[in-house]
Amino acid sequence: MSRPAESIHGQWSSRWAFILAATGAAVGLGNIWKFPYIAGENGGGAFVLVYLLCIACIGIPVMMAEIMIGRRGRQNPVNSLRSLADEEKRNPHWEYLGWSGVIAGFLILSYYSVIAGQAMAYVFRSFSGVFEGVTADGAQSIYASLTGDPERLLAWHTVFMVFTMIVVSRGVKGGLEKSVKFLMPALFAILLLLVGYAANTGEYFNQAIDFLFQPDFSKLTGEGILIAMGHAFFTLSLGMGAIMVYGAYLPKDVSIAKVSISIAIADTLVALLAGMAIFPLVFANGLEVGAGPGLIFETLPIAFGHMAGGALFGGLFFLLLVFAAWSSAISLIEPAIAWLVENRNISRKRACVYAGFATWLLGLLTVFSFNIGQHWLLFGKTMFELLDYVTANIMLPLGGLSIAIFSGWILAKNSSQQELAIQHPILYHLWRILIRYITPAAVIVVFLKVTGILN
Ligand code: PHE
Repeated sequence: MSRPAESIHGQWSSRWAFILAATGAAVGLGNIWKFPYIAGENGGGAFVLVYLLCIACIGIPVMMAEIMIGRRGRQNPVNSLRSLADEEKRNPHWEYLGWSGVIAGFLILSYYSVIAGQAMAYVFRSFSGVFEGVTADGAQSIYASLTGDPERLLAWHTVFMVFTMIVVSRGVKGGLEKSVKFLMPALFAILLLLVGYAANTGEYFNQAIDFLFQPDFSKLTGEGILIAMGHAFFTLSLGMGAIMVYGAYLPKDVSIAKVSISIAIADTLVALLAGMAIFPLVFANGLEVGAGPGLIFETLPIAFGHMAGGALFGGLFFLLLVFAAWSSAISLIEPAIAWLVENRNISRKRACVYAGFATWLLGLLTVFSFNIGQHWLLFGKTMFELLDYVTANIMLPLGGLSIAIFSGWILAKNSSQQELAIQHPILYHLWRILIRYITPAAVIVVFLKVTGILN
């Protein structure tokens, strides 16, 4: 199977457009909703340190590998992997790696959309002033009233899925690129404002900084390390082909190393800012750091409820969060759409209807996990928790491991050297050492540790 010189879906109009789109894919609920709550549940500092190490030593090299494979293959992840394997005269079954990505994207989007729906509901609540003067108890009961109502969750999940599929159906330039140009900078500005507000809490702000940046290794479990590593993949959108398929639309002359580093820095900054905005409020209001998935919905309204213009800022904040989730959601489903269009020969619109409907349907499991299905447990987890755990902590790291092996061991040195075109030989060697040895070893060791094989 030969590979096309250009993707049939078009190309990003510039390097900048790609950075925005990939940053849009990376920055999402993972940074603002998930990072703070898992950092809280896993004891803070030491967890954050492991997460940062994983971003630098595993995330950036794997991101470069994914973009490289995508740009060289110029097709959906399944076909790209197969044609590159063919070209190197290696086993074509590498295409299954593409498959696992398509499936992971579909599973993640099914619950992602429900959480994004909760953020949508909060846009309206904020603007309408519901949070004015709200107490910690009040904020908790407002959140509980939303999640306890399956019909409302379902309605918002539906709205979010429809919006997502509309953007995806418009394709690379029309849909994906346009939607991220102003959203990212605006989100960043509001986050800074929130951190500024949190900084006014004085000692609580310091307590939050200590919590996030003073590592206390006695609080870190093997499971916590796995969650930190899984989150590094999740937050950078790695291990499932999203960044790979975006790489397929990347112009030839762009430096893959530079864009990867920029995206990782922006993504990390947003997560850390979110933590710095949220934890001071947690401490100032005597809330639980390990409150779980409701954390941002139960803390931020308190800040908005007590600041001047809070209804407006709160509404804007949740609106931007929805947009950030949106630009990630489109990347979660893009591998499946590209596959349907390329291999099933159907139109992009039709592909969106099929894939969107299937995802919506699976999303019902998450909708019910918050209410009537609270007690449907498997391995002690609700359906939502299970979907999240299996995708983020198992499928993405395994996908990342396989991508590292593919690009470090299967792809010839010549091919990766040519595609990455890193000027300094030392930097190229550094990448190759990381991708050939460090990434695979790290993922394997963490897995062995969690399963108890390694103590
Ligand atoms: N990176 C996104 C976030 O942090 C989630 C995501 C994961 C998007 C995997 C695409 C692929 O919210």
